This record gives sequence, C-alpha cells and structure tokens, in this order.
Amino acid sequence: MTYAEHFAKIIEDQIARVERLKSSPAMPDFSAMDKIVIGTIDGDGIGPIIMDSCRSILEKLLADEIAAGKIELRKIDGLTLENRIAKMETVPADVLAAIKECDLLLKGPTTTPGKGDDLPNIESANVTLRRELDLFANVRPVVIPEKNIDWIFYRENTEGEYALGSRVIYINDDISIDFKVTTTIGTTRLARAAFEYAKNNGNKNVSIVTKANIMKKTDGKFLSLCYDVARDYPDIKTDDWYVDIMAANLVNDQINSNFNVVILPNLYGDIITDEAAQLQGGVGTAGSANIGSRYAMFEAIHGSAPRMMEEGIGEYANPASINRAAVMMLRHIGMTDSAARLEAALDAAQEALDMPGDGTGNTAAEFTDFVLGRL
Ligand code: IPM
Ligand code: MG
Repeated sequence: MTYAEHFAKIIEDQIARVERLKSSPAMPDFSAMDKIVIGTIDGDGIGPIIMDSCRSILEKLLADEIAAGKIELRKIDGLTLENRIAKMETVPADVLAAIKECDLLLKGPTTTPGKGDDLPNIESANVTLRRELDLFANVRPVVIPEKNIDWIFYRENTEGEYALGSRVIYINDDISIDFKVTTTIGTTRLARAAFEYAKNNGNKNVSIVTKANIMKKTDGKFLSLCYDVARDYPDIKTDDWYVDIMAANLVNDQINSNFNVVILPNLYGDIITDEAAQLQGGVGTAGSANIGSRYAMFEAIHGSAPRMMEEGIGEYANPASINRAAVMMLRHIGMTDSAARLEAALDAAQEALDMPGDGTGNTAAEFTDFVLGRL
C-alpha cells in the first residue's frame, strides 16, 4: 500500500465510523430492566487482587439483589496479557463476545506492552474496549474536602490521539507520524454529558481545556463545539483554558477550588486526571467511569503495577480505586443508597488505613475486611 492509499483508508474508516455513530442506540433505562449483568474482568498484575476485593464487597453490598436475580456478577476470564499474546489479539474475540453479553463492566487494569518490553506490539486493551464498546465519556471525579476541591473530569475517550491506535504511517527510520481525530458527534455528546452533569448538580462551573492555539483544527473544533453546547446552558459559567496553564492551575491553591466540571480531549484528559488524582492522595484513590450509549465500563484509573508484582508486594495493592469505580457504577444505574453506603465505607477506610503501595502499611485483604465490616 502506498502512503496515499494508507492515508485514504484511514480517512474512509473515520468517515464510516462517524456515520455509524449517528445511529447509536439510546442509553438503556436500568430501572426498567429485570436483570442487570455486571461483567467483572480481572486484568493483569495487581488486577486479580483488587478485583477479588471489589467482588467480595459487592457480593455483600448487593446480596439481596443478587439473591433475587436482579443483578448478576459474572466473571469474565481471558483478558490477560498471556492470553492476548497467545492469540495475538488485543481483546480476544471470545472475550469480547462475552463482554458484549453484559450490561456493565467492572474492569481491573490490563498491561500494555511498551517500547523496549520485548513483547509483541499489541494495542492497549483499554483503548480497544473503549473503542469497541463506544465508551465516549471518561468520567473521573476528584474530591479533596479539606481544600474545598470538588472536581469532575469529562475526558473524551475514543478519539483524539487515541482514535487510530497503532495505525500510524510508517515512513522510514527518520520520520514518525501519529494522528489526532476530532469529530462533531464525538465532541458534542461528551460536552452534552458534562453540561447535563453540571446542570443536574447545581449548575457547577464548566471549564474547557484544549491546546487550540497550537492544535488549531482538532482542538479548535473541540473548543468551539463545547461552546456551542454551552449556549444551551445559560446559567452555567463556562470558561476555557490551555492545558499547560490548567496543569498549573490545579496545583494553585489560590484558585483550584473554583473549578468544578472540566471537559478535555483524550490525551490531555489522561494526563490531567493523573495529576488531579495525585493531589487527592494518589492514582490508587480515584475511580473512573467509561460511559457509552449501550455499555458502561468502570475501572481503576491506575495501571497494573507490574513493579509491585515484580517486587512481590502485590498484596499491598490499594483496592480503593476500583471500589470507587463501583460506587460510580451503582450511581449510574440509580442504586444511590447502595452507592452511598459503599462510599461511606470507603471514606472510612481511607481515613483509617495507610496504603502507600510500597510494601508497607495495610494490605488489600485488610482493606477488604475493613470495608466489609462497615457495610
Ligand atoms: C487511563 C490509562 C490508559 C489511557 C492506558 C492504560 C491506555 O492511562 O485510563 O488513563 O491512556 O487512557
Ligand atoms: Mg491515564
């Protein structure tokens, strides 16, 4: 294939994707469903350790609903690095089929081979799942009560720098080119979700983050589309920032409590949400929701922590993040009382336990026992 043909194919595929998006299904009404199937996926590294914690906590919290057949927790195996490499598929087809049989997913972290890992170059399973299930909004709350900080990030989750994954054009040893994609529908539905949240939670401020002074076509489009949506919400104060100064603003205690809802393209959202989570107490403390129109997937914001496993200290992994994600899942399906009970237990665990992730302090099992005791 020539460069021109490769490039043309990429563009045609994106045009076809946008056409498909135009007929996306409406979000299911969970309150009207007889049964909700929650697929649980362990992932790699510390994944099985934190997912075991989350499963036993949910089994207790949702015991009545599970007994009544209203909720099924269904373990889905096979999303491991070994299996993915053996099949040379980012998400093996049978695993993807099992995932698509569920309504919601709770997922542990998966390992993505990086440059120099000496492993085949398979794409990130996260990125593939977000794309395959069209999970367009990555929602990440960060709350720091003592600083009066109550942030929620709406990160675009299927486009931007992540849209084309490994489908780069290999030119030669001297040149590399990646792609960034912004679409009207992708941006508008994300912005709509963020503004709806802001409105339904007391007209919180909305800040749009881009680098539209440099990425003029893609971020420029993102910014103006967000402002188009903002026009439908005249009571919400909306402003915009470049991502570099936003990174500084978040650590500026003079102004950081003024921010509430933040809308970002994919890669900036990836970076800024790790920064924000660190301010809250570490990436192990923040949950993350991937919301689409048909499916929703809830996960820890951190990775599989291969270093902890290599050092043999996996049992000290902090299950807080995945359990926070479970709280978001329960809210997503309208189980607000159960969500509040779990959240209160997690807050108490955060106060009482010390989990620095370096092989000292409390273990994941102690965390789980503590939370079970509070439910
Ligand atoms: C995240 C992660 C992922 C991302 C990785 C694991 C592909 O960092 O969920 O923020 O870059 O989106
Ligand atoms: Mg990240």
